[in-house]
Amino acid sequence: MALAMTTLALYGVGGAALATSLVSLRRRFELSQAKHRSLAGHARIARRLAAFMPFYEYDEARFFCSDGAPREIAQRRRAGFERLSTLYKTRFAETIRRTAEAEASISDLQFTDAYRVPFQYSRYVRQHLPAAAMLQSSAGVTVTDLDGNRFYDVTGSYGVNLLGYDFYKGSIERGASRVRELGPVLGPYHPLIVENVEMLKEISGLDEVSFHMSGTEAVMQAVRLARYHTARSHLVRFCGAYHGWWGDVQPGIGNPLPARETYTLRDMSEEALRVIRTRHDIACVLVNPLQALHPNASAPSDSSLLDSGRRAHFDKDAYATWLKALRAACTERNIVLIFDEVFVGFRLAKGGAQEYFGVRADLVTYGKTLGGGLPIGVVCGRRDLMKRFRDDRPADICFARGTFNSHPYVMGAMNEFLRHLQTPEGHAVYQDLDGIWNERARLLNQRLSENALPVEVVNMSSIWTVCYKEPSRYNWMLQYYLRAEGLALSWIGTGRLIFSLDYTAADFAAVADRFVAAAAAMQRDGWWWRSPTLTNKSIKRSVLKEMIARRLLPEHKH
Ligand SMILES: Cc1ncc(COP(=O)(O)O)c(C=O)c1O
Repeated sequence: MALAMTTLALYGVGGAALATSLVSLRRRFELSQAKHRSLAGHARIARRLAAFMPFYEYDEARFFCSDGAPREIAQRRRAGFERLSTLYKTRFAETIRRTAEAEASISDLQFTDAYRVPFQYSRYVRQHLPAAAMLQSSAGVTVTDLDGNRFYDVTGSYGVNLLGYDFYKGSIERGASRVRELGPVLGPYHPLIVENVEMLKEISGLDEVSFHMSGTEAVMQAVRLARYHTARSHLVRFCGAYHGWWGDVQPGIGNPLPARETYTLRDMSEEALRVIRTRHDIACVLVNPLQALHPNASAPSDSSLLDSGRRAHFDKDAYATWLKALRAACTERNIVLIFDEVFVGFRLAKGGAQEYFGVRADLVTYGKTLGGGLPIGVVCGRRDLMKRFRDDRPADICFARGTFNSHPYVMGAMNEFLRHLQTPEGHAVYQDLDGIWNERARLLNQRLSENALPVEVVNMSSIWTVCYKEPSRYNWMLQYYLRAEGLALSWIGTGRLIFSLDYTAADFAAVADRFVAAAAAMQRDGWWWRSPTLTNKSIKRSVLKEMIARRLLPEHKH
């Protein structure tokens, strides 16, 4: 009898263990189903492959015909490249000289300079089209380099420049004069902070505000608060989304440590919703609404333009529907929904992505333009989520400080920015905003297509990316032709063009003329040579072959 009972109990324990492991197996399966198939969706594999990827580069001869183009085309490319190189070295001489002097001691500059184009071409390009990464002034929608050349600015200063550089110069100055009496005193606040908080509460529709020094820190704090209040460990981010450079939100290449408490799920997918609805360890879901322009893809940069595979397409309704489904899943499971509006906040609508897509988040992070031209990161949130201590457990706190938080000068400039948004002029900025920028994109695309140029722009309001319509290994060259035509791009090249909203129709027409001229010159110089055997697939395959050959035969010549 006792034996039978023991056997039964053992069966019971065994059955329970089996059931538990089946459930856990199912969860693992669901998680892998919810990952995007790309490397961006598989952070660990991407990191391993990155460690395996060998360096090699093209010598001068191969540089001009790495796609198998015939001699005549290679010669045309070489002539165009040399012409561009001479133009750079004469027109940008002083700017290049000063940049080169600084480069050896500025690690950030070395990094950006190395990653402007795919690595196989990088050294040769740097040698002949050197970086000119210094400016002396800005005015209107233009910036001027150390040689006195004026460029139309389409860098948008990483998105900070929403209202035009002149506006921010004014807001920094006026803001500074309002807090000058207090100066750089930290700890106690300048009373201006109260007005900023009130305006931010109104804009975000949320109860409380905390101030930080960068967007990265705001995201760190939002995630920390979510973990504290839910007592759960994991954050969900969507494939390709950028949320700053802090470890937990950057689980793939670029972070030396694996991010063990991060799930990277497929954007706009039912499988991702299933994971969110069934896992018990998810504290928060982070959304960067900019992904609506290129769901599941990383920030587009010319250094990854191996072929013409870059795609973008913005479907506002589809993304709004997705956000609503996400909102419902988070509400159902008491998961904190965080909108990271560091980039898009104030750019899409006064009330940001929440207003633009018609979905409310529990916590929202802002940054960039909100500082009125000075460094900033802000979290707005529901009162219960923003609280950093527990009344009944005094030692259980959620710590967050920062020496420069709420710096009086930043509060002053922010106040100027926020108050401007309340004025009729501020309201006018958002009138038919999408209509204006969609029409500008359409017109430029029409001209590009009329001129049979294999390039198009895709936009989400004033945020644009350049896509390439024919297979090519040389699309990244366009950034150099654009610069020669007087357009200032950031180091990611044609991956992202960001317009400030003070661009007039005439300013934009000038940009469009230059864009078309640059693309036409590039085409004349033979970089977009076509061949029936040249496809995006064949390009990828040939690069892969080169890498494997290099790995197996380190001395192999290319
Ligand atoms: C969506 C988003 N979150 C966070 C950050 C990080 O902000 P910061 O560079 O101020 O640290 C950025 C910066 O580009 C961003 O675009």
